[in-house]
Amino acid sequence: MTYKIAVFPGDGIGPEIMAEAIKVMDCLSSVLGTGFELETGLVGGAAFDQVGDPLPAESLALARASDAILLGAVGGPKWESLDYSVRPERGLLRLRADLDLFSNLRPAILHPQLIDASSLKPEIVEGLDIMIVRELTGGIYFGKPRGVRILDDGEREGFNTLVYRESEIRRIGHSAFQIAIKRNRQVCSVDKANVLECTELWRDIMDQISSEYPEVELSHMYVDNAAMQLVRAPKQFDVIVTTNMFGDILSDCASMLTGSIGMLPSASLDGNGKGMYEPIHGSAPDIAGLGRANPLATILSVSMLLRYSFAESDAADLVDQAVQVALESGARTPDIHSAGLQEVSTSGMGDAVVAAMHEVADGL
Ligand code: IPM
Ligand code: MG
Repeated sequence: MTYKIAVFPGDGIGPEIMAEAIKVMDCLSSVLGTGFELETGLVGGAAFDQVGDPLPAESLALARASDAILLGAVGGPKWESLDYSVRPERGLLRLRADLDLFSNLRPAILHPQLIDASSLKPEIVEGLDIMIVRELTGGIYFGKPRGVRILDDGEREGFNTLVYRESEIRRIGHSAFQIAIKRNRQVCSVDKANVLECTELWRDIMDQISSEYPEVELSHMYVDNAAMQLVRAPKQFDVIVTTNMFGDILSDCASMLTGSIGMLPSASLDGNGKGMYEPIHGSAPDIAGLGRANPLATILSVSMLLRYSFAESDAADLVDQAVQVALESGARTPDIHSAGLQEVSTSGMGDAVVAAMHEVADGL
């Protein structure tokens, strides 16, 4: 069995972290015989620079023709003055929307070795394991009308639209409940139903769906409170389900509980299990090319790819265990470094994971 993977390194640190994820896939091929056929494509600012479009038709076709997609990161100051329609981010958003990757899973798991890297006290984050289920193809990110208009008095006015159809809410709700069944059977739906009608509808639909999952406990929380609770008592959460923009914000917040945003992978799935996998962090232009980026979020995205798109749990477990072993050995990129541990570069961390994969596989 050979899996065809579209690889989009993107911008900033994207190419560096992707190189390490590719090392890990190569190692899986040699250790477990998992067959990958990788084809690299252009997306984001890199694509704009070469062909004037952040998502060239060829890249979209490659993504469609592949069994799964692995993406690095997009964006950077170089492209910030461009029109929105050709910004690097638009390439990523179109990829998500055109492939209907509506269900974005962002696990926030504290690796015990990193307990001191968290900005919170150890007892607050110890054992943390949250799954944020973010709606990814709707809401204010995509709602129309949108833009900046000039009013009669000459002043400019910016506007965006928060919009959700019942069916969009229902399908992300089902994703969340189905994931919760396999976990601690708690779903917390995050909204702003006290102010926004659209999220009042969100709350209604979540209540409706919950009757189909009697074994799962549903609660509701306003987003401002959820942000506070995430840093006050994060272990109260099992699965959080929320809108596109709230999920964007809360997942960055949750990432710091785990020590670094450089640790969090994600899966973006359509209704049939096809998925795109990417670290939740951005392109970090300030450290691009310096070998300081943490490749673990991308490497852990490979593990999610194996698990969610291909049900290759042995291969996924091997990657996850190797990450633990690499951390155990003391290897730390600068974002998770602390005194007494060994600071390694981006490629040094990739090498540590690959060495650990051999070690773990030999011990099997
Ligand atoms: C993320 C990122 C993206 C988003 C950007 C790069 C468009 O922040 O994946 O969380 O806002 O969704
Ligand atoms: Mg984000």
